[in-house]
Formats: sequence, structure tokens, C-alpha cells
Amino acid sequence: MIPFIGWSKRDIEVPSHLIPPHGGELIELIVAETRISELTEDSRDWPSHDLNPRQLCDVELLLSGGFSPLTGFMGKADYESVRDQMRLADGTLFPLPICLDISAEEAEGLEAGSRLALRDAEGVMLAVLQVEEIWEPDRNEEAEKVYGTTSTEHPGVDYLLNRGGAFYVVGRLEGIRLPVHYDFRRDRHTPRQLREEFARLGWRKVVAYQPGGIMHRSHVELTLRAAKEVEANLLIHPVVGGTNNHNGNPDHFTRVRCYEAILARYPQFTARLSLLNLAVRFAGPRETLLKAIVRKNHGCTHVMVGRDDSGPGADSQGEPFYEPYEALELLREYAEELGVGLVLSMRMAYVEEEDAYMPRDEVPEGLTIKAIPRSELRARLEDGRDIPRWFTYPEVLNELRRTHPPRHKQGLTVFFTGLSGSGKSTAAKVLLVKLLQMGERSVTLLDGDIVRKNLSSELGFSKEHRDLNIRRIGFVASEITKGGGIALCAPIAPYDAIRQANRAQISQHGGFILVYVSTPLEVCEARDRKGLYAKAREGVIKEFTGISDPYEVPEDADVVIDTTDITPEEAAQLIFLHLEKEGYVGPPPHSA
Ligand code: PPS
Repeated sequence: MIPFIGWSKRDIEVPSHLIPPHGGELIELIVAETRISELTEDSRDWPSHDLNPRQLCDVELLLSGGFSPLTGFMGKADYESVRDQMRLADGTLFPLPICLDISAEEAEGLEAGSRLALRDAEGVMLAVLQVEEIWEPDRNEEAEKVYGTTSTEHPGVDYLLNRGGAFYVVGRLEGIRLPVHYDFRRDRHTPRQLREEFARLGWRKVVAYQPGGIMHRSHVELTLRAAKEVEANLLIHPVVGGTNNHNGNPDHFTRVRCYEAILARYPQFTARLSLLNLAVRFAGPRETLLKAIVRKNHGCTHVMVGRDDSGPGADSQGEPFYEPYEALELLREYAEELGVGLVLSMRMAYVEEEDAYMPRDEVPEGLTIKAIPRSELRARLEDGRDIPRWFTYPEVLNELRRTHPPRHKQGLTVFFTGLSGSGKSTAAKVLLVKLLQMGERSVTLLDGDIVRKNLSSELGFSKEHRDLNIRRIGFVASEITKGGGIALCAPIAPYDAIRQANRAQISQHGGFILVYVSTPLEVCEARDRKGLYAKAREGVIKEFTGISDPYEVPEDADVVIDTTDITPEEAAQLIFLHLEKEGYVGPPPHSA
């Protein structure tokens, strides 16, 4: 039996003005590397919990000291006190519960004294929890008190009520290793590393700015002003935890490449970039407070906060979950206790006559404010239209154009649906040849028969099997689309729900065009090229679409073609013209 390894609290030498909130020291929970193999040997029989992306972020911040003064997940007393009063049981200000949620089955297998191995998705043990307490929280009460709502339209509440485990487990947490990030390693720092970096740079005052999305000129102007106002250096501190892809933000790879590019726009030696692996809860005011604590722990002396900080926006009725300045007001109330300076993040506007940015509220009347909303920016990128220099920098635009190529360079799925013999495959084959002839993108045909032979050979024609077949086709098509290619799919796909699910999945990565080949049953049956309709009528083939099995006509088709009186070439040309109209096929490369 290996003795349990106790806390490893390391006092860190930092200038006194950089002490964490609450006056305590920064607490790291990583054990000595030498004990890892010993610990791993002994741990084979321990129960394990696979950390989800949100829990991985929490464990990382607990182990690295980012959540100081927490020394582990919260126990029941701290949890209830934080939920009800925003304070730990000892009275220390802490705004949000940081608890480890597990399922009822997992909870069943644990008792006080058990050791629970906390592992990442690859099975690597990151930490061990010596279980002291397991309890079932009232999650509705938590939602109401912490988020101010029980609506599961709120993403934090949705996790709490629908996706998280029903039990919380707590005990002494012992770190083994921090989660490894393979991307942007030079931009990732533990609180200790960042503090040391600031000390090395001679930065006594640091204001943290959390960009919401891509940074353009207005954001640079805004942060420059804020830093000047308090005579501080600037830390661009984006949150990149796996849970914040909200509001249609580009993926973090694009965002971080843009932040790296924009750093050169700041005066030398005054701005730094560091990625914060925090799982956002969208808890509005309370989360703003949490982030202030985390940033103080990372050595920042000030934080920038603006309108609508840390909230999820509005619900489906357009009702915002939090008031625009609620977060700002709450932080103002507690800033002194936390020892964090607050800098207002002003909304900046580009004034045409001045060719300059100004705080929106200070623009003199009569002058022209220009702006490009996010939706218009996206539309301009998709159409390959101009984006003016006053709005963003060429290096940022370069990155954006790589991630949002114009439609004729994006991946695309053309999904045919229709009865057997309706002409889907033939039209798809002609379209395939046309697109291959253009030669700009790779084109893959996933015909019903080809898929049934190679990907779904064990499946029959029950609803369950058909749905599985279509889901598989959707998965392959979405991978092709993600990679910038064209997928032509031509199954019967008789059920609406699964077609819609495919559309939703694939549209995240590129274009999706649904082609309904509406050739009537009588015509398909009269053609009966494979003799299947005859066999279906005789009852030799069961569950035959249109005869003894349903076909749900799509209401959301982008193109509808009845091939009764048109040739396959004409059918393919109709689709081609639609793709051209929508911008998915562009001019030939040599015509530019
Ligand atoms: S589905 O419903 O989308 O999974 O069907 P799909 O994979 O496109 O397969 C349809 C082809 O399988 C042949 N076939 C049947 N079709 C419908 N119902 C039954 N019971 C059936 N049994 C065999 C048929 O030849 C279909 O090919 P196409 O090219 O559509 O004529």
C-alpha cells in the first residue's frame, strides 16, 4: 500500500503587489514527478473517472493554482455557502461552485476513503481524489441561485441539469501531472510561469483583457486606451477551454493565430498573449468575479470588464439572462476585497470624418460612425468581398480568409434523396463528372449502392438500420466537407429527422444542399430497372420504400427535380446552376 501523498504547497516568490486575492499564497498541487510511476503501479485497481472537457479545465486550474485559494473541488459546506452567499464556509469570497460531478453509477461504487483516479480522455491519470464525501445536490436550487434561472436555454444550466452528473464527490486532491496541450505551447502558462514572466519583464502593473472573438482594430484601440488609463501593461488573456464555442465564434486555432498576429500592433514590450484554459459557465456576474480571481492568481493587477460580460446573451424570446451592466456592478462591489483593479471596457466606434476610433459615447453629433456587424463580416468573407482597412488589419484578414474561404473554395455536400429509381444516382454521377472536370476540389460520390456494399453491408432496411446508414453517410460527408472537398450522397434517405440531423452537422463545416428527386412512384415503378418494384409488389422484398415502407417528403429541399421528362444531363445542370447561384462553384481559375 502506497501512503497517500500529501499536499505540495509551494510558496512562490513574487513581488508583494502580485499576491493572489485573499492575501494567501498561490497554491499548486502537483506532486514530485518521481512518485508518478509508483503511484501508477498501485492505482490499477482504483475506480476511475474520465474527466469531461469542462472537468479537465477545472482540474488544470485547481492543480496549477489558478483557482487559489481552492485546494480541491468544493465539499458540501463550501458548496452550499458559495451557492447561497458567494463565500466559502470560512467567509472567503468565492463566486461559483467548483464541484466534481459524477454519475449515479459512479457514486454507487465509491465510499469515504476510496481513491478515485481522475483521467483524461486518453486514460492518463492526472490526479487522485481521496474520497471524503459524496452527495446529491439539488441542482434546480443551484441553477436558480447561481445562474438566476432554471431555463435550460442557458448553456450553464443545460450542463447542470441535462449533461452533468447528478452527484458531487469531494476529497483531498492530489495532482500527478497537468493536462498536456499540444497546440500553441508557447502561449500557455501556469499562474506561476506567468508571474515569473511578468517579474522578468519588469511588469508591475498588468491589465487583463479577454477578447470575445477575433480582435480587430477597434479592440486594439480599446485595449491601448485601457492600458494607458491605468499605466499598465496588457495581457491578452483569451479563454480557450473546450466549452466556449458559443455565438458562432471561430475555433480557437483561428482566434489564437489572429491574436498572435495582432501583438505586433502594440508598442514594444507592453503586451503579451497567454491562453487561459478555463471552462466557461456563462454565469454572468458571478463568472466575472471568478475570472477576476483567476486573473489575479495569474499575476494580473487589473481586469477589463464591459457590457454583457460572461453571459450567454438572450434566450429564444430575446430576453437577456443578465442585465448589461450587472457583471460590471458586481465586480465594482467586490474589487477592493479581491484586490483587483477594474478598468471599464468601452465600446469603440470608427468615425469616418476623423479616420479614427473613439469611445462610442464621446462621438460628437453629426459625425458618421461606421461598423461592420459580425454577420456582415461573415457574409463578406463567404462572398470573397472587400473588408476595409479601417476595420481590421491585413494580417488578421489573411487568417480569416484562410478559415472562411469564399463559398466556391469551401467544402460542400450535395445530398440527394428520393425513391428507388427516381434518378438520384444518375444525376449525381453526371454532376460528379462536371465537378471533376472543373478540377478545383476533390469530389467523392457516396451512392446508395456503393455505401451499402462498403460501409453498411451488414444493414437491412428497417427504420433503425436505414437511419444508421444515413448517419454513417452524414459522418463521412461531414469529414469530406470539413476537409474542403465535395461529397455527393445519393441514398433514398426516407426519414426527415435524420436528414435534418445531417444538415445540422455538415453545415458547421461548409455547404449543405438537399436535392429532392421527386419523380413520382408510378414513374419509378414503371422504370423498375432492377426489377425490385415487381418483387416488392409480390411481397418477395419486404419493407420496400414507397410500396410497403414510408417515404417522408422533405419540406426543406434546396432543389426539387422531377426526372419524369428530363434527361440526367438536364437534371445535373439544374443542380449545377443552383450551386453557381449560391456561390458554391466559382469562375474557372484562369478567368480571374
Ligand atoms: S436507405 O433507405 O437510404 O438506407 O436506402 P439506400 O441505402 O439508399 O439503399 C437503397 C437501395 O437498396 C435497394 N433496396 C431497397 N430499397 C428500398 N427498400 C428496400 N426494402 C430495398 N431493398 C433493396 C434498392 O436498389 C435501392 O437502390 P436505388 O439506387 O435507390 O434504387
